[in-house]
Amino acid sequence: MLARMNIGPYSLANPFFVAPMAGVTDRPFRQLCKKLGAAYAVSEMLSSRPDLWHTPKSARRANHEGESGPIAVQISGTQATMMADAARYNIDCGAQVIDINMGCPAKKVCNQWAGSALMQDEARALSIIEAVVGACAPRGVPVTLKMRSGWSPEQRNALNLARDAERAGVQMVVVHGRTRAQGYRGEAEYETVAAVKAALKIAVVANGDIDTPAKACQVLRRTGVDAVMIGRAAQGRPWIFREMAHHLATGESLAPPLVAEVRQLLLAHLQVHYSLYGEVLGVRTARKHIGWYLRDLPGASEFLNAMHLIADCERQTDAVAGFLDELGARTERLPNPTDSSTAQQVQTSMEVTT
Ligand SMILES: Cc1cc2nc3c(=O)[nH]c(=O)nc-3n(C[C@H](O)[C@H](O)[C@H](O)COP(=O)(O)O)c2cc1C
Repeated sequence: MLARMNIGPYSLANPFFVAPMAGVTDRPFRQLCKKLGAAYAVSEMLSSRPDLWHTPKSARRANHEGESGPIAVQISGTQATMMADAARYNIDCGAQVIDINMGCPAKKVCNQWAGSALMQDEARALSIIEAVVGACAPRGVPVTLKMRSGWSPEQRNALNLARDAERAGVQMVVVHGRTRAQGYRGEAEYETVAAVKAALKIAVVANGDIDTPAKACQVLRRTGVDAVMIGRAAQGRPWIFREMAHHLATGESLAPPLVAEVRQLLLAHLQVHYSLYGEVLGVRTARKHIGWYLRDLPGASEFLNAMHLIADCERQTDAVAGFLDELGARTERLPNPTDSSTAQQVQTSMEVTT
């Protein structure tokens, strides 16, 4: 039985977290994952550049109206003072935990020395960590750090950086078991995260390629980490978190969800999505979520091709409802995902779509 973990004053109900994914883990999706069992969710990254804070995209990301706590916001940048200011700004907007992004390999982030590029320059990384902790501590806001196993196979420095981060006052470290050089290629390894866990007193979380309840429980047991963080496997499958909690509690698999429940969840997700993004952007950005929910179902590719031509909320909702009604007439439960690797293949181009 795993001990219940805390991030600062927040006690988390289980060890299954949603990973921050720009363009995916917006407020509607985070809320849905939490409702379906994720104990914790981190926002999409927000830039530390103040000139970007009031763009529609950043303003939307910094809006946490109605979000259940703890509200964790990830910030990304290259300058310690700007990162400290960004932490203060996001606390003013409702952030209860500040996460520092040192894991994202997207070029747009790395060219500016942000994201995982910071792992190449440990001194700069540490100055950012110290500045952010310095800004958050007086407000009682815990700081967490998300990183990769290292910059490259030759410079697998997660352990060094994690030790420094712990000394600087970071309260939780997430390690994605790939180096920056790997991008999303190859398989994530968990030895590095196990070594970080063994060396630190603060909470340590494993991330990367955890795509089934059985694998989540195996990684928890084998590495001794406090929690696991799920990214791509939650896309279109937010109920994976309750499946993981069930597997951890019983050792058994839950039956796939009823088609009627998926219909209800997806239609409700779409409504909240439209109200956040508005009609034009909402319909466009909803397509990827709909694609993820439906991709493995019979007839999905034809349906999705046709759906891409729809440009209004009502017709998009009706089309999705019709597709799931037809499926529901044929089968009570969602067919088992053919193979967890399908999800990974669909997402081969991991460029952040923001
Ligand atoms: C579309 C997409 C966007 C992402 N955006 C972020 C981000 O904003 N911040 C971050 O730290 N990681 C980001 N990541 C990385 C994920 O948080 C996670 O570390 C990675 O996908 C590995 O976990 P997984 O195998 O469970 O997907 C992103 C990943 C994807 C696929």
